[in-house]
Amino acid sequence: MLILFWGRRFGDGILGVLRDYTTKREAEETRKRLEEQLHHARKLEAVGTLAGGVAHEFNNILSIILGRAEIAEYVADDEESRKKSLSIIVKTTLRAKDLVRKLLMFSSKEIEMAEYSNMKASVDEAIALVRTTIPSFISITSDIEECGSVYASSTEIHQIILNLCTNAYHAIGDRAGFIELSLRKVDVTVTTLLDGLTPGPYALLTVRDDGVGLDDETRLKIFEPFYTTKGPSKGTGLGLSVVHGIIKSRKGSVNVSSKLGKGSAFFIYLPIAGGVKQNEVSMTSENRSDASLKILVVDDEQEVRDVHQTLISSLGHMTECAEGPEEAIALTKKEKFDIV
Ligand SMILES: Nc1ncnc2c1ncn2[C@@H]1O[C@H](COP(=O)(O)OP(=O)(O)OP(=O)(O)O)[C@@H](O)[C@H]1O
Ligand SMILES: [Mg+2]
Repeated sequence: MLILFWGRRFGDGILGVLRDYTTKREAEETRKRLEEQLHHARKLEAVGTLAGGVAHEFNNILSIILGRAEIAEYVADDEESRKKSLSIIVKTTLRAKDLVRKLLMFSSKEIEMAEYSNMKASVDEAIALVRTTIPSFISITSDIEECGSVYASSTEIHQIILNLCTNAYHAIGDRAGFIELSLRKVDVTVTTLLDGLTPGPYALLTVRDDGVGLDDETRLKIFEPFYTTKGPSKGTGLGLSVVHGIIKSRKGSVNVSSKLGKGSAFFIYLPIAGGVKQNEVSMTSENRSDASLKILVVDDEQEVRDVHQTLISSLGHMTECAEGPEEAIALTKKEKFDIV
């Protein structure tokens, strides 16, 4: 609402403008809420896209484990070939464990809340995830440099990379093409100022493809919400606006350079955070203890309890097992354990 008034007092004129900001504030709040909902929905969708690739990767892993277990049980006739199968089982299981860890990182809300994360580690994880979703006739290469922590969660970095690489894949289509990712630490100085970035150290992530490229008109519109050149069932036109939203909220910038028919390159600048996070402290020989411990293993599956008990005992620790929380509580009342 806009009210203009003109008053006359003691001979002086007053010209005033009153603006009602309530509606503007409400609109701003609604916009923020919608943005949050959109962010959440995009994350769920990204997890959905991953599910297909992950299921495929798990099938491979399980067939190796199953096959090798059968070889060890029925085929291998000497100690050496049995050991070989067992060590392949261990390696492949670790691959599955790693995949689960990455998936949890991708979907975990807790990690999303993190203020900052190691850029190289997050980019490496995202690339590994992207590889499971993009066909192998598209080559994905990366040249990733350590550049410390950035003020963005690893989930946000995963989302940025997944959206950019999915777009690159769509721009390439069903032919052998390439996606190149690079990460460099750069200094933005007063003379190289970009998009109003504050001078300082930045992580520069580049995602380049040899897809169809963009014409000038499309290039100006790609970050707009709902702008898509894909069919209605193929694209919602939200991917890049989510990427833009994340980067802007983290005081970074995103630019694109493209040539129609040749390909595109997206440049993402994220400010590097100083110092080392407290929870990044890792286990070193100084803070690890070699003393024998008394450990209580709690799990409802007999097989899992047996495995843990055997491995822990082989390291020289004492173990007891409980099937569930009630049995565990009863045992801790009777005996003192170092670790449960
Ligand atoms: N690497 C690229 N090469 C060529 N065009 C691109 C590239 N990335 C984005 N675009 C263009 O920008 C448009 C908007 O991209 P955006 O990711 O926002 O939405 P979308 O991919 O169409 O749909 P969504 O991501 O919601 O599934 C795309 O439809 C496409 O025309
Ligand atoms: Mg997209």
